[in-house]
Amino acid sequence: MSKIQKIGVLTSGGDAPGMNAAIRAVVRSTIYNGREAYGIYDGYEGLINGNMVPMSSHDVSNIIQRGGTILKTARSAEFRTPEGRAKAYGQLKEKGVDALVVIGGDGTFTGARLLGQEHEIPIVGIPGTIDNDLFGTDYTIGYDTAVNTVVEAVDKIRDTASAHNRLFFIEVMGRDAGFIALRAAVATGAEGVLVPEVETDLEELFAYLENDYKPHKSSGIVIVAEGEKSGGAYTIAEKVSKRHPEYDVRVTVLGHIQRGGSPSGFDRVTASRLGAAAVDALMDDQKSIMVGIVNNEIVHVPFNRTIKYTKSLNQSLLNLINVLSI
Ligand code: F6P
Repeated sequence: MSKIQKIGVLTSGGDAPGMNAAIRAVVRSTIYNGREAYGIYDGYEGLINGNMVPMSSHDVSNIIQRGGTILKTARSAEFRTPEGRAKAYGQLKEKGVDALVVIGGDGTFTGARLLGQEHEIPIVGIPGTIDNDLFGTDYTIGYDTAVNTVVEAVDKIRDTASAHNRLFFIEVMGRDAGFIALRAAVATGAEGVLVPEVETDLEELFAYLENDYKPHKSSGIVIVAEGEKSGGAYTIAEKVSKRHPEYDVRVTVLGHIQRGGSPSGFDRVTASRLGAAAVDALMDDQKSIMVGIVNNEIVHVPFNRTIKYTKSLNQSLLNLINVLSI
């Protein structure tokens, strides 16, 4: 049985719906295993400043359904330095916290890997980002809710697009990845999707508009991922307007509404499973790994691998857009 006695948990980077469900699962699994749980506020910034408190089972009551993160989150510049990480480790030693669970994305795991390399502290990561851009897990916490939020918004935009015979370009989040864009595009029956992983071919878009869209449709939706590389939703919309002045083109940027809201049932279950799995991994003396879900099974992925490799978009979903948008 592991010697670990006190497990600290923090959220870092962009918040994602379901982070609270993960915090709840970490705290309760820790207590279930007869250990003490500590909540660390403000991500790595709070770790450096020693902003941590013991957490009881009751402290995480009534949060499974809440968006955001009760522990707050931050992007810490100081933690990127060895001095910052040494300070953070000093705080953990002082409080007797001897293991960590970090909930976040790529940047969070990069920091965790360095802290674990430089100091004697076992760390397990839980993938929490709406972007779903982490290698080694099919889903990250928050992705499903964000997609549902986009779907709801796009459905509404489709009503007005249809009423006015308009062509909408809708920008969604995802940083450098197109996971939100692609899934939302399939779910909303979008006429097109433009993602960073595939070079945008404007001639192909023009040909589609001329040959498929124009003869059959009077309104449409093109989802554009924010990381799209040819200039983004506004630039593309402008080029389409120039080439096709007959279309009534509009652009909507959905922005941070995609990060908020009550987590979906799927995200709550994923977060609960991953939270418990992270504590189980620490109890098994695992370290420097992310817990993920692949084919509905819990997996352990070394930080090195999840940081180094890039998850690919599902090519068959991309093809599906072409088939179903005729
Ligand atoms: O990583 C989550 C995310 O929402 C990305 O999709 C987006 O690019 C970024 O964070 C926005 O960050 P901020 O909230 O700091 O503007």
